[in-house]
Amino acid sequence: MRTQPIIASVLSLASSVWANPSPPHQPKTHLNYTVVTGIFQQDDPATDPSTFNFTAQNFGLINRTYPSDSSCPDRGKATQWQKLNHYIDTLNHSPETKKNNERYVLLFLGRHGEGFHNAAESYFGTPAWNCYWSELDGNGTVTWADAHLTTTGIAQADVVNRFWNSLLTKEKIAAPESYYTSPLYRCLATADLTFANLPLPRKNPFVPTVKELFREGISAHTCDRRSNRTYIASHFPTFKFEKGFPEHDPYWKELMAEPREEQDRRSKVVLDDVFSSDKNTYISVTSHSGEIASLLRVLGHRVFGLSTGAALPVLVKATTLKGETPPTSTIPYNPQATCAMPPTIRNSTCNDCSCCL
Ligand SMILES: *[C@@H]1O[C@H](CO)[C@@H](O)[C@H](O)[C@H]1NC(C)=O
Ligand SMILES: *[C@@H]1O[C@H](CO)[C@@H](O)[C@H](O)[C@H]1NC(C)=O
Ligand SMILES: *[C@@H]1O[C@H](CO)[C@@H](O)[C@H](O)[C@H]1NC(C)=O
Ligand SMILES: *[C@@H]1O[C@H](CO)[C@@H](O)[C@H](O)[C@H]1NC(C)=O
Ligand SMILES: *[C@@H]1O[C@H](CO)[C@@H](O)[C@H](O)[C@H]1NC(C)=O
Ligand SMILES: *[C@@H]1O[C@H](CO)[C@@H](O)[C@H](O)[C@H]1NC(C)=O
Repeated sequence: MRTQPIIASVLSLASSVWANPSPPHQPKTHLNYTVVTGIFQQDDPATDPSTFNFTAQNFGLINRTYPSDSSCPDRGKATQWQKLNHYIDTLNHSPETKKNNERYVLLFLGRHGEGFHNAAESYFGTPAWNCYWSELDGNGTVTWADAHLTTTGIAQADVVNRFWNSLLTKEKIAAPESYYTSPLYRCLATADLTFANLPLPRKNPFVPTVKELFREGISAHTCDRRSNRTYIASHFPTFKFEKGFPEHDPYWKELMAEPREEQDRRSKVVLDDVFSSDKNTYISVTSHSGEIASLLRVLGHRVFGLSTGAALPVLVKATTLKGETPPTSTIPYNPQATCAMPPTIRNSTCNDCSCCL
């Protein structure tokens, strides 16, 4: 049974670990995540992420029967999404699920549309981008610090908006009940366009919560440095901020990069925070390629790279286990080298700037 004090202690751990590597109160339970496979094509190792088109494939939902189909209302006419929603509902109400302290949540993980930093990386080539241009705010013509969406990125978000409209009206999908977004501008704008003017249920309007730790892996690139809270609030006045969201970016440091293990650690912190504080079953997260890859590692999902503007659904089983959270501590950021001049090669990545002239 997940009781209020446990929820509160998991939550306080979630926020205190990030701020403070040695939290004073250890909780007596912790959350473990597994992916329920066989639901979406994306969770099947046979699906090639590089060619998969989620809008052409009903979000990847596999046509199949579920053990709960016989009790599905109006089952002769129910869509595959209605049957899945009924299945998830059935799982969440089953005595077995409660006995095992389990809970099923359907996450919709969306990557932002193309930003000016994505376009600049293609324009300059990855070596020159990583080792020179990405550390600048822009090139005089274009700004890519906390990049905004390009016209391509806006069009990608509009495609996903139309896709959601058809999911809601034709497929009768259960709409997200809560929305979270990275604090970086490209995600705020993508979420805003994706969920605008949809026939959403009145009780779950699109009011996203800005969550710091859904941000991209922090690198020396200025596109990973967020704007201040005042600026975000003035551009997205209907969005909410998580509790304690500070005015200024507390994490981005010039020429420093977050190690992958540290990113996975804080991805677990933010998932634990959401799963401890939000009782909803259908949850949308607008984030980034690197951060969604990290969330998938923490959830135990196969690697599934998303192109700009793409999204994937993941059915998660969260189990509340007895015992303290295995201790973790923050891992220090690494200093990043750069090149004094942009490298001229275009054909290989050189994050270590081995390609400096
Ligand atoms: C925790 O989750 C992992 C996969 O993410 C799974 O392999 C493991 O069995 C789970 N542990 C328990 C005790 O449920
Ligand atoms: C994906 O499928 C949609 C709908 O069939 C189509 O309009 C779109 O062009 C496709 N996208 C790509 C990148 O092939
Ligand atoms: C699933 O079934 C629907 C309706 O019968 C069909 O239109 C669609 O092509 C099928 N999708 C897949 C991936 O087989
Ligand atoms: C700046 O970079 C953009 C690509 O992001 C490019 O289109 C533009 O031509 C560049 N401007 C200059 C002055 O080089
Ligand atoms: C917030 O950011 C904006 C845009 O960069 C800037 O003009 C403003 O001075 C900043 N406000 C604070 C309180 O730092
Ligand atoms: C990459 O480009 C460099 C210089 O342009 C060239 O010497 C090298 O052979 C290329 N490497 C590959 C794998 O194509």
